[in-house]
Amino acid sequence: MRREEMNRDGKPHWMELNNLPARDPGDRTWLTKDMAALGKNVAGVKRLIGSQVKLVAMVKGRAYGLGDAPGIAKVALKHGADFLGVELMEEAVELRRAGLRAPILMVGPVGPNDAKTIVELGIEVTVRDHRTLQTIVDLSSSLERIATLQLEYETGLNRFGNTKLEVLSLARAINNSKWVELGGVWSHFISFESGDTQQSRSQYRTYSSLIEDLQRLGFSPGRRHMCNSGAILRYQDLHLDMVRCGKLIYGIVPAPDLIDVLPLEPVISWKTRIHWMRCVKQGDGVSYRSTWIAQKDTSIGIANVGFGDGYSSRLSSQSSVLIHGQYVPIVGQINMRAIMFDLSSVPHASIGDEVVMIGEQNGKAITINDIAMRANSVPAEFLLGIGTRVRRVTINQDAAPK
Ligand SMILES: Cc1ncc(COP(=O)(O)O)c(C=O)c1O
Repeated sequence: MRREEMNRDGKPHWMELNNLPARDPGDRTWLTKDMAALGKNVAGVKRLIGSQVKLVAMVKGRAYGLGDAPGIAKVALKHGADFLGVELMEEAVELRRAGLRAPILMVGPVGPNDAKTIVELGIEVTVRDHRTLQTIVDLSSSLERIATLQLEYETGLNRFGNTKLEVLSLARAINNSKWVELGGVWSHFISFESGDTQQSRSQYRTYSSLIEDLQRLGFSPGRRHMCNSGAILRYQDLHLDMVRCGKLIYGIVPAPDLIDVLPLEPVISWKTRIHWMRCVKQGDGVSYRSTWIAQKDTSIGIANVGFGDGYSSRLSSQSSVLIHGQYVPIVGQINMRAIMFDLSSVPHASIGDEVVMIGEQNGKAITINDIAMRANSVPAEFLLGIGTRVRRVTINQDAAPK
């Protein structure tokens, strides 16, 4: 069967339907994580903070959407991470079920119903109320197992953290029980990305005054920590006893002005293929509502991926993909499972060719920061939005311990 499909340079072009590459379902779209790159980034962060400072590798949110948090955690631990950081209890449980025995710091809220898991699995949770604390104390004493806990002091983000009075009162209760100990007191910067140094320094002063109060009362605060990725690079004098690091280990630069502070290896790429091609004539529209109109006869590539996979519709006519090492603009509205791109700059492109949505090709790159910014989002949000139907691929697995 032959079908007139294209009209490049005014000449008819025939696509041989019988000769098209067979469609492999696994080739629809895939998100790759490079474990060797991840290992190098972890080692780089560890070198920067020095051996005295503990490194928490944040693997929350299915390792920032990459999937296989236990696999990522193993590589991170092998390359210098001291702790694993999670938000939810089920994330901590997944790590323990995978056989990981490393210390786990849980930053999200917990309740009394979590006490059994906390004590049995030895998870260093951030406790924020007396009822939960008392339940943990009771269980620890009945199981005769000491639980190590953390406290969060709110210095301005006004999220889950406790006030000074609350922290002091929780610290007193911890100090009064032999079945729980204080592993650390932490806080979180508000604007590490924009580099509002004044605000961050003021938060640090507030935090320091709490630590002094704790010490004056004779309570050891345990490990002090405030820095996430942006702050690790920006405030190298504030690493304190521990840092909590997500973006950097995944190769994401936290802010443009920090790009040269620490060389990072790209860990993540997101790809698809040209699944179909067509030629549109000058004046033809592409996709819903014809928001893009061809200014000339144009060869259009179409990939079977879209906002249903997390490639935000806000990127419609706003972003590019890489094909044959060239930036190729997305045209028209992004569909649930279709993106369209103008192939004018890659005349030899054909069905089956690789399309890079995030990552590198022939020396050119589309970073997560680029794409998140164009989608009016932030890298972590964008990554977590990449759907579970996007196949996860691991490369350089050898970087992981056997
Ligand atoms: C409390 C806390 N600390 C640290 C991090 C890690 O942040 P980043 O990815 O910027 O390193 C997060 C992530 O959201 C967090 O919630």
